[in-house]
Amino acid sequence: MIILKNKQELEAMREAGRLVARTLDLVCAMVQPGITTQDLDRAAEDFIRKAGGIPTCKGYCGYPATLCTSVNEEVVHGIPGPRILREGDIVGIDCVATLDGLIGDATRTMPVGKISAGMQRLLDNTKAALNRAIDLARPGEKLGTLSNSIEAFVTPLGYTVVRDYCGHGVGKQMHEDPQVPNHGIPGRGPTLRAGLTIAIEPMINMGVAETKVLGNGWTVVTVDGMPSAHFEHTVAVTDDGPVILTLP
Ligand code: MF3
Ligand code: CO
Repeated sequence: MIILKNKQELEAMREAGRLVARTLDLVCAMVQPGITTQDLDRAAEDFIRKAGGIPTCKGYCGYPATLCTSVNEEVVHGIPGPRILREGDIVGIDCVATLDGLIGDATRTMPVGKISAGMQRLLDNTKAALNRAIDLARPGEKLGTLSNSIEAFVTPLGYTVVRDYCGHGVGKQMHEDPQVPNHGIPGRGPTLRAGLTIAIEPMINMGVAETKVLGNGWTVVTVDGMPSAHFEHTVAVTDDGPVILTLP
């Protein structure tokens, strides 16, 4: 069941989204060779709580941290820990926060120091795929068209789309209907309506699309060990067009 949000709820989601964006601004500025992923996590949790928010992921199905920090071949759900980030790594930082009962969800993949041209191209194109999909989040559009836009953009560039995980509706719950895949058939699926709020989150691989979950039960990696990038925004469909809620 798709839950449309009223104006008040959209305003509250904008505040939750703003908190997520500010948290990402803070931790992304900390990313440099030598820092650990748990340094980033501690800073994020502290910042969210001081702002009166709740780190939504912490405790969700037993997840132990505020952020997901996914390095290189890790696709999503990397658990922050003592791992030291090294020059040339990329790290996907996924942050979800609840403020006044409503949720914002966003991800940025950051370079650690100087990265290869190929890695930079992967990041740039994953972000571009997200922005193109966001532009389709308009009343009357079909979800399949939005989903397909991601696959159609990255496939000719030589990348693959992760199919094992997808975006989602978001609101009072982190995961609401509808699912928002990163591939699809244009013209199919639910029609987007004003008041719909979705997390759009392309996960794009340099090698094969297939993934597996590590023994910790969370961390998703590419089966071929090739890098993966992830960008995400929470977006509201409105009569005035798409509104990105997870901006500072
Ligand atoms: N941003 C992620 C998502 O969209 C966060 C889930 S991590 C979890 O699903 F630990 F909370 F599951
Ligand atoms: Co999400």
